Amino acid sequence: MSIFRQLRATASRQDISVPRELGFALGTEQYEVPVIFRPATDGHLCLTGRPGSGKTVLLRALAEEAVQVMDVHIADAWAGHSQADGVRVDGAASFASTVEGCAEMLEAVLAEVRRRVKQCALEGVSAFDDLAYPPRRILVILDDTRHLLVEDEYSPAGDGRPKARSVECIREIVTCARLAGITFVFSSQWALDQSGISYDVLGALCSRLELESTPSWYYTLGMDDSTRSQPPPRTGIYTSLGAFASTAVEIESR
Ligand SMILES: Nc1ncnc2c1ncn2[C@@H]1O[C@H](COP(=O)(O)OP(=O)(O)OP(=O)(O)O)[C@@H](O)[C@H]1O
Ligand SMILES: [Mg+2]
Repeated sequence: MSIFRQLRATASRQDISVPRELGFALGTEQYEVPVIFRPATDGHLCLTGRPGSGKTVLLRALAEEAVQVMDVHIADAWAGHSQADGVRVDGAASFASTVEGCAEMLEAVLAEVRRRVKQCALEGVSAFDDLAYPPRRILVILDDTRHLLVEDEYSPAGDGRPKARSVECIREIVTCARLAGITFVFSSQWALDQSGISYDVLGALCSRLELESTPSWYYTLGMDDSTRSQPPPRTGIYTSLGAFASTAVEIESR
């Protein structure tokens, strides 16, 4: 048995540092069966829906639970505008509200991911869970991802470089996400194109981030055509990227 495994065996005998895994209830499916998002096994969560459909409220509830057992890093492009409505929660490991801040946050997360990958190599293990002293899992929440990562005709001048840095970081991180114990949660609105047809910003972004090669989950919330003046339906579809089967979810009241 390697020295690291022996240390771990001793640690678990003494009941230290065996972190709990997060299981977050997104809502319920038919017959009230809860739909649970488990970052440790489910892969990344991509959340999309029309404005006001409850993405930020859901992410804040997720962040509040996640800080109990994970290192949570949050970027929320609108926090500067209305902090009360944002995702920021006490106990987060870091928080960014600007495009530059998001890039710096992701660069720091990437440095930690590289350190973890090195540690796995050093201990000769092929999975994060097999480390002698696995650190807390990492959850990175990017609310309104479009404003943080996408450069388009609406983005302010000068945002291009930090957005590209963020995208590069995410691309590298997702290639070793399992090894480093890290999960992303992205959210973005459905957007209207010039002819008024809604299109899926996040779906396009997921393929740019090359998430398809990872076991990502894709969750759409209240994706109907009703106007913003109507109360949004708290329903969604939970689908694995690239899979045909999906589950209809009734979102919990928060
Ligand atoms: N699960 C929920 N239960 C009860 N009310 C909710 C729930 N989710 C959202 N709401 C209500 O709907 C409002 C809009 O939700 P939220 O800000 O999360 O939408 P959003 O999808 O993030 O919108 P945007 O795309 O404009 O950022 C909230 O202020 C809250 O009052
Ligand atoms: Mg929001």
